[in-house]
Amino acid sequence: MPTKPIRKAVIPAAGLGTRFLPATKAVPKELLPIVDTPTIQYIVAEAVAAGVRDVILVCARGKDSIVDHFDIAPELEAHLARTGKTALRDQMRAIAKLANVVTVRQQEPLGLGHAVLCARALVGDEPFVVMLGDDVIDAPVPAAKQLADCHARTGLGTIALMEVPLAETSAYGIAAGPALDERTVRIERLVEKPRQDPPSRLAVIGRYVLPPRVFEILEALPPGVGGEIQLTDALAVLAREEGLLGYRFEGQRYDAGDRLGYLKANVAFALKRPELAGPLRGWLAEVIR
Ligand code: UTP
Repeated sequence: MPTKPIRKAVIPAAGLGTRFLPATKAVPKELLPIVDTPTIQYIVAEAVAAGVRDVILVCARGKDSIVDHFDIAPELEAHLARTGKTALRDQMRAIAKLANVVTVRQQEPLGLGHAVLCARALVGDEPFVVMLGDDVIDAPVPAAKQLADCHARTGLGTIALMEVPLAETSAYGIAAGPALDERTVRIERLVEKPRQDPPSRLAVIGRYVLPPRVFEILEALPPGVGGEIQLTDALAVLAREEGLLGYRFEGQRYDAGDRLGYLKANVAFALKRPELAGPLRGWLAEVIR
């Protein structure tokens, strides 16, 4: 089925980041670095690698510094040029040129579904990808591109799935349905954080390629768990109405919204840096003895 390519990404970033207090009292969670790069920059780079041109950040009060990160920094660039650090200057300029970053405010934290709905006017009538900054994915083909490719092949909304141990299923949205091939599942059931009897071990991870129809569904939804508008509830309607695929992406996902996951991401990404890998490996071997 011919379908429009994915050109827009919605990144909900209006949450309070309570799991990272006190760090997130004055600094947005999205700007906490993995090694030396804010988590949000990894997400925007992944979006761009999937073909995205416009990045819509759903922000809240106190989050304006995220936008500054994607703007030019003339004084800093001039200083770097003056001191001969031209490669670093070019790197800073490249961040500002990565994508066309625009913002919309979510005035109250009424849930992930509500945050996505705030981007409706900026997305318009085309498919788009929702990307959660908490999920940092290290993959040979960027995860958002894997989903966009599946969407291009099938014309259906496609969300990222990852197999988790049974004991961890209660921490995730869990999806189930018949497998279409080794990576693709036609979703028939979606359960948010099942306390018992999960329908599968396939957890929903923060990447979703969605049709614009999801906005109408979100608008009609009554508040769900915790009085919030839940994206999962809208996905369940979408699965029933027009079909929704789950895609078991290839790659390693880190839960950077959680302290342990964040530390793991830092170690894993540092071990991929030639200048850090050797000394870090040596030090790790020493401290875990
Ligand atoms: P979380 O609940 O995991 O994020 O929401 P949080 O509120 O930032 O963090 P904790 O749990 O208090 O530590 C998942 C994603 O949805 C966004 C968050 O910014 C996060 O990226 N979100 C959530 C919104 O944008 N608006 C909301 O109303 C809720």
